[in-house]
Amino acid sequence: MVEFQNVTKVYDDGTRALDQLNLTIERGEFVVFIGPSGCGKTTSLKMINHLETPTEGTVLVGGQDVSGVNPVELRRGIGYVIQEIGLLPHLTVEENIGTVPHLLGWRKKRTRERVDELLALSGLDPTVYRHRLPAQLSGGQQQRIGVLRALAADPDVVLMDEPFGALDPITKANLQQELLELQQRVQKTIIFVTHDIDEALKLGDRVVLMRRGAVEQMGSPDHLQNEPVNEFVRSFIGEDRLSQISPEGPVDTLIEEAPLQVWPDTDPTWVLERLEELSRETAQVVDRRGRWHGMMYLADLLEAERKKRTSVEGLGRRDRKLTQPEATVRDAAVLLVDLDAPVPVIREDGTLAGVITNGGVARLTISRLTRGGGAQ
Ligand SMILES: Nc1ncnc2c1ncn2[C@@H]1O[C@H](COP(=O)(O)OP(=O)(O)O)[C@@H](O)[C@H]1O
Ligand SMILES: [Mg+2]
Repeated sequence: MVEFQNVTKVYDDGTRALDQLNLTIERGEFVVFIGPSGCGKTTSLKMINHLETPTEGTVLVGGQDVSGVNPVELRRGIGYVIQEIGLLPHLTVEENIGTVPHLLGWRKKRTRERVDELLALSGLDPTVYRHRLPAQLSGGQQQRIGVLRALAADPDVVLMDEPFGALDPITKANLQQELLELQQRVQKTIIFVTHDIDEALKLGDRVVLMRRGAVEQMGSPDHLQNEPVNEFVRSFIGEDRLSQISPEGPVDTLIEEAPLQVWPDTDPTWVLERLEELSRETAQVVDRRGRWHGMMYLADLLEAERKKRTSVEGLGRRDRKLTQPEATVRDAAVLLVDLDAPVPVIREDGTLAGVITNGGVARLTISRLTRGGGAQ
């Protein structure tokens, strides 16, 4: 489906980004490119949709030399997701996902149906999310929309350049799992770039470990783990950050995005509806400057609704929390054992960093423990 034949890229300033790269990617494969910063991962991806041109060699997509195809036509058949997400802020979720179908001249009804189908595929209720603006979504949700947008016009190939790189570890683990489930249904040819070895081993049918613009070793996650060809591969694969989480260390790795954050002037009934939709029992109250006012429980909200209060102002409880930078993993564990509810984590400036949950910590641990076994 995608083939690199002796591809070399020398940038204008003399940087040799790719050095005789040879690689064939089959239709329906999920291939992950990994390697140290600057080894040529992004450059390789950009060759596939012709954002960069080889200095020497040939890149083929679907058997055609990309240098001979109209770039606009080429890119319509290739989805592209980047770390910076790149959603247009003034367009709704529906309009963002529908960008390429719109360019292709699809009729409104067809685009709407496709958007709804994709949102549902990703577990987002279309009636709730279709009309939201990117600013009304969490970072994880925005990146989900970025992925759906890339899939909208049903491309053969999807390129993903560190798409989850900016997300917290638990939101990232959730999106990885969703992507694997999505791929089982859509069966695209996916080329995914990361510098996170856990992510590479979890997602890839095949992992391509690059170094200095060429392939150092490629194969299944098992192959790379069990038969590293040299010390470079061994040490690259060997990094296991889970075993480096120490009870006295900072809580950073355990923090996930708070699923529901609301402003103090929000209506309690609205919050209750969102909680039901999310199957959650707590919400964080945060003001427009990001400062944390407290955490609300279901019972507080039901009571406020009964009393016909029109805002959640003052409902947040502030007694159970962790503060950065001093909070340790042990502190988090003590609070979580005590009560199975999210623990909010507050930054030094009083803003909400996120929450720590029993479920999140369990998912993170399981995802790390099963790494390499994730690609069926
Ligand atoms: N437009 C450019 N001009 C000059 N050098 C570049 C350009 N883009 C990337 N490079 C260089 O090419 C090498 C490979 O870059 P890149 O493919 O972005 O690496 P990676 O994605 O693996 O971190 C790096 O040394 C980088 O600095
Ligand atoms: Mg890069």
